Formats: sequence, C-alpha cells, structure tokens
Amino acid sequence: MYHDNGNSGLSRRSVLKAAALSFAAPIAQGLAFSAQAKPDAPRFIDVHLEAKPGSAQLLDPGEPKTPVWGYNGTVPGPLLRVARGGEVRARLINSIDQPTTIHWHGIHIDNAMDGVAHLTQAAVNPGEVFDYRFRVPHAGTYWYHPHAHRAMQQDRGLSGLLIVEESEPVAVDGDIALAIDDWRLEANGETETRSLAGLHDSAHAGRIGNVLTVNAEPIATFQARPNARLRLRLCNTCNARVLQLRLEDVRVQLVAIDGMPVPPTPLPDGTITIAPAGRADVVVDVTGATATSSAITEVSRGRLLIARLDVRGEPVRDRALETSLSLPPNDVRLPNLKADPLVFDLRMQGGAMGGMPDVEVHGKRMSLRDAARQHRMVWAFNGKADAHDAPIFTVKRGRPVAIRIVNDTAWPHAMHVHGHHFVVVQRTEGALKPWLHDTVLMHRRETATLAFTADNPGKWMLHCHMLEHQMSGMSCYFEVEP
Ligand code: C2O
Ligand code: CU
Repeated sequence: MYHDNGNSGLSRRSVLKAAALSFAAPIAQGLAFSAQAKPDAPRFIDVHLEAKPGSAQLLDPGEPKTPVWGYNGTVPGPLLRVARGGEVRARLINSIDQPTTIHWHGIHIDNAMDGVAHLTQAAVNPGEVFDYRFRVPHAGTYWYHPHAHRAMQQDRGLSGLLIVEESEPVAVDGDIALAIDDWRLEANGETETRSLAGLHDSAHAGRIGNVLTVNAEPIATFQARPNARLRLRLCNTCNARVLQLRLEDVRVQLVAIDGMPVPPTPLPDGTITIAPAGRADVVVDVTGATATSSAITEVSRGRLLIARLDVRGEPVRDRALETSLSLPPNDVRLPNLKADPLVFDLRMQGGAMGGMPDVEVHGKRMSLRDAARQHRMVWAFNGKADAHDAPIFTVKRGRPVAIRIVNDTAWPHAMHVHGHHFVVVQRTEGALKPWLHDTVLMHRRETATLAFTADNPGKWMLHCHMLEHQMSGMSCYFEVEP
C-alpha cells in the first residue's frame, strides 16, 4: 500500500499507475522505471518461469545485441512481488539445452523447494517442468537463479528478483529494484565462451566481466521528483565481481542487508560494498533540484557510471527528509551461543598462490595438479573438493551452530549459507556488525565465525557464491535433522 508521509504530493493517479505495473512486470530493458509508490503485493502469486533463449541490448545502443538465456526470455527475469507470509507457486519450464533448477536465494524455504540439483531435487531436464510452491516467511529483497551442478546458466542471464513486501507499509515515495550484473562479451555482443568455466578464472578471482549492467541496461535511467524518498534494492547478480557502488548527490541510509532489516545506518559518502549474491536496501532522499541528475557509479576500478536518477517534475515535499527509516523486524531466531552450540571448523584452501599440496576429490586423494587436470577442482573445504558425498556436519533442529571459518587462501570469497541467515560473531578483517546475512564477503586470510540457529530441517548448501569457485571445489552441505 502506498503510504503518505504527511506532506507528499503524490497524486492518486500516479498511485493507480504504479498499481498497473503488476508484480509480474519484468524490469524490462529499455523501460525507464520511474520511481512510484509500490502496489499492494498479492498474498499469492502463480507464475510460469520458462528458461529460454532471448536477446538483450547489453552493449550501448547501436552495438550488437547479446544472445542470453532468461526466464521468459528476459534479463533479468520477471520481478516477483509477494506479501510477507504469502505463497509463491512457480512452474519452471526448461527450454534450454541443459538440465536446470531454480534456487530461491535467501528464503527460509521448505528444503524440498530449495532447488539444488542432486541435493534437494533431481535436475529438470530440457523439455521438462518442475513446480515450486513455498511460503515466504520474511520480508525483504531476495532473488532466484539456477542451482544446477556446475552449470554456467546464471552467467548467461538466468536470474531475477523476488521481493517480499512488509506487512506494514513502508513510508517511501518509490521503490526501485536494481539487478546489477557483469558480462564478459565479445565485440560482436556474444558471450565470450573460450574462458567460460576455465581453470584460470576458477583459480583466481572468478569470471569478471567487461560490461556492467543494471537491469540489463548499459546505463539504466530512473526518474524521481525533487525531495522524494526512494527505496533502492541493490542486488549483485554477478558471477564473481565484488561491487563497490556509490550513490552520488543524494542522502543515503542503509536499511537492510540480504533482505533482513538493519538499524538505519547513514552512508555519508553514499558508498556500499556488495559481494556476489548480496543485497542491500537503501533509502535515498533526493536532494537535487528538478532537471538535475544523480549518478549511480561503480568505483572499485575507477568511476564507472551504471545508472542515473533523473530529477524531474514538481517537488514531492518542501525539502528532502532527514529522518531515519526503520524497517519492521523479520523475527529471525538469533543464535544463543551459550546454549550448547555445535562448533564446526572450516578451512578454505586452494586457488592460485594457495600452496595446497593435495586434495580429496570424491573419495580419492590426489595432487592439486591432478585434481585440476582430471576434475577441474582447485579449491577445497577441509581438504575436500566439492564435498557432496556426505554432510560436513549434522545438527539437531533448533540447536545453535557456530561455523569457524579460516580463509586460508589468497582470495576473497562470498560465503553463502542456504535456508538460514547468520550473524558474523567474530571476524579479523571486516567490520563486526550484529546483522543477519545469507552471504558474507570474507577477506583473504580472514577468520570469521558465522552463527545461526539451525531451525530449518533438511540438506543445506554452504558454498562460495563466486560461481567459478563454487564449481571448482568450494562447495559442501550440512544437514539439519528433523
Ligand atoms: Cu544463490 Cu547456493 O545460492
Ligand atoms: Cu570464492
């Protein structure tokens, strides 16, 4: 529901116009998504997601288009919106030429619906369908993508955002979702395939693209009225690139990480780092006058313009808001580490300059050289690459878990836990914040402890979300007993 902040001038007509952009409207390329109040989210959605070839204008206008794989042929896939506590039904139709699944990243989902091929379901073969049906217990910004073993489908464009609306209205004038992706393209617009899933990227930083897009546009443009308050949902859908985003010439506060509310935190320089698969919700107060523009840039390697917020029209209010905005809590059970936690030690090993002498691959010990040559494995957890034969640990439902991770590699990694959010209770490099995450960026050589209550029964993946690392060994699972 649109919520008026007291002095907003947003007309009823624009509210209705916003409602007409129904939940299933894709964040289509070419569509300048203007900042408008969000519609009431339905309690139940029923969608078809057909993984199939399509094309997208990822390079600048006038340059060749890129053949992609997209849900319903679009990149990103349909933007799904559903009310907190509501239900999603989604039929996956596989119209690409390799087996696939859909994983609902960050949702505390029923395990059978988690979409991990070979672990929670059989892969869906070309021409087949699979029906997902699940509840969404927490509000926030989530996303969906394939989780088929060692397939590079996300690189081709298969991913989309899933937004779960708060039960109480959030006082913003507009809500904009930004799926930020990078692509490694040839000059003719096609995906560069020579290095796809290659050992070099795998052993180093992963596949870093040469084209960065927002909602599959080279420079996405959004509109906002002067003094408007917007919620921006930033989602890193890159294979491996750690994004450093800067929202210029606006006032920014961080209000959620990985879907979960955090105490509103002003970002004085407007800069935020998001690891692959991570999300950040920010509240932006537009301070520029009409006819100005605010830039959204990526600043990890120089300053690259990726999107623009054009300020147009009549002011929404006399001056930009300065109040902080808190999202309602999501009621995640925090871990009580005094109550007999299961403590598990996990050592991340391997990669270039890692000095890992040998490794176990599917039950056999071998030199790293043979693992790389014969199995394309270059990383390991506790000496095992791609440890999917058995759970790395098993825990009784309801017990707190503390995973003490040592990143004994020369590379950063985006560690992701399925089915749960965790708190980083100790770390040696990054800032320690009592926030919930489903993915955390671990710095090279960093030690960190991830704690959560294992309250969701089933088999849950724990892996690096840099896809090339995941594929080449940085992947395992644990089991929560019923
Ligand atoms: Cu975003 Cu294992 O997934
Ligand atoms: Cu990694």
